[in-house]
Amino acid sequence: MVPRLITRFLSNWRQALAVAVIVGTLGAAVSVPVAQAGHRGQADLRDRMSDEQAQQLIEEGRDTFRYDTFGDETFWGDTLKLHQAIEGADLGGVGTGVSPKTALSVGLKVDSGALPQQLVQDLQKGRVNLDSPATTLALLKLDAVVGLTGFFDASGTHLQSIGIQCALCHSTVDDSLAPGIGHRLDGYANRDLNVGAIINLSPDLSAVATLLAVPETTVRTVLTSWGPGKFDAELFLDGKAFQPDGRSAATLIPAAYGLAGVNLHTYTGWGSVPYWNAFVANLEMHGKGNFFDPRLKNATQFPVAARAGFDNVRNADDRITPKLAGLHFYQLSLQAPAPPAGSFDPAAAARGDALFSGKARCATCHTDPLYTEPGWNMHTGAEIGIDNFQADRAPDHAYRTTPLKGLWAHQTGGFYHDGRFATLSQVVAHYNSHFSLGLSAQESSDIVEYLKSLGG
Ligand code: HEC
Ligand code: HEC
Repeated sequence: MVPRLITRFLSNWRQALAVAVIVGTLGAAVSVPVAQAGHRGQADLRDRMSDEQAQQLIEEGRDTFRYDTFGDETFWGDTLKLHQAIEGADLGGVGTGVSPKTALSVGLKVDSGALPQQLVQDLQKGRVNLDSPATTLALLKLDAVVGLTGFFDASGTHLQSIGIQCALCHSTVDDSLAPGIGHRLDGYANRDLNVGAIINLSPDLSAVATLLAVPETTVRTVLTSWGPGKFDAELFLDGKAFQPDGRSAATLIPAAYGLAGVNLHTYTGWGSVPYWNAFVANLEMHGKGNFFDPRLKNATQFPVAARAGFDNVRNADDRITPKLAGLHFYQLSLQAPAPPAGSFDPAAAARGDALFSGKARCATCHTDPLYTEPGWNMHTGAEIGIDNFQADRAPDHAYRTTPLKGLWAHQTGGFYHDGRFATLSQVVAHYNSHFSLGLSAQESSDIVEYLKSLGG
């Protein structure tokens, strides 16, 4: 009894001292005497300023995420001439052109919120020609194709260039109007999107061939090997297109929601959200900005990047750096979506929850509620029972513990960085054997139900 009283006294005494120090500091910093104004009033004002600042940055970031090309149309349009392929020869471009049907078939999405009411009705009644590239141009002009911006000539009829946005890969739609047409769902991985097939539409890939120092036909073979929902962010650094067993080296497009509180990002932990956003906007999207990462000077690990000087990119007209703060806030504000009712068995999920942090030891790495480690969230391939190929394409030679919230919304394409496990059951079976967990079939399926229940 007595010692506990003493401890409580001591801790109260420490708190009092801490308050006195804080009040004293505030008192010194503000001109109004603390006793009159009260530091509470000051804090409220600053609180409101933070709220407003956060709100403003989130809105700016949303706008950037959805609509900003960072000037990358000089690459996707001027250099790769993708706009010509979209337009088609009949309208002044090349080839057959890209009809809305073709666009939807390679996973491009249409934002119904950008469509005028009349067009929505026409679409519902099947009165819109989805086989004509002219319709695609009309949709581009309305800013309705998620992740693509068309640049038109003064007359507004001729497509002059095209740029891409973050939303191309990291948003999808809710299909509320038709498959592929609906409200935007930012942060969801677009696992239908065939990035390789889209880039392959380009009539001129010589710039990519020159960068990689391979023939253009090789570039096209590599792009064809990716398949839907995948992209290879490291190809332009190391030129490695295939895993040692011959499978594509591309990775699945990950979710860009549920990331708040997570330290390292990407499958291989390249850095923070603002690090990766600067990386992607400069080196992958080919926007105009500044980027610095001396790790890319390592010519053994990153021969292509070292040759191209990607470790230190400078542009007088920097359209990326001013956007990083907003983009950061926006991504952190994107909550993982809650699973639809009926999509999992709640009783089994509750049992799975106990196993996840108990017998199956998942929570030692996927720590609730982040579902990744607080701190340095990286592991070697050997630790998780897989090869180190993709890890070795990144500076830390390791894999980042994937945050698991909202898993249910990106099951297409499989799990782990390259989708090597087609189902969640296969993931659990892998851990069961790698860690010799001794999980029964019932226990494994309970863990799967738990994984499907993670959201918000
Ligand atoms: C062409 C498709 C594509 C585009 C465009 C794209 N990304 Fe990504 N993004 C990916 C892929 C693929 C990865 C995984 C990369 C890896 O791990 O090697 C990724 C990873 C990420 C991650 C890490 C997620 C995690 O789990 O840690 C974030 C955050 C992200 N992207 C944000 C953005 C932002 C912001 C933009 C726009 C500036 C953008 N991306 C543009 C495909 C894309
Ligand atoms: C030693 C740390 C560690 C432990 C223990 C662990 N994981 Fe993982 N987990 C990882 C890492 C690292 C990855 C990323 C692997 C990759 O992308 O190749 C991962 C990926 C996953 C994925 C794939 C997510 C996606 O979006 O593709 C799931 C699902 C998963 N773990 C579930 C579990 C479950 C269930 C358990 C317990 C049976 C578990 N993990 C135990 C580290 C761990």
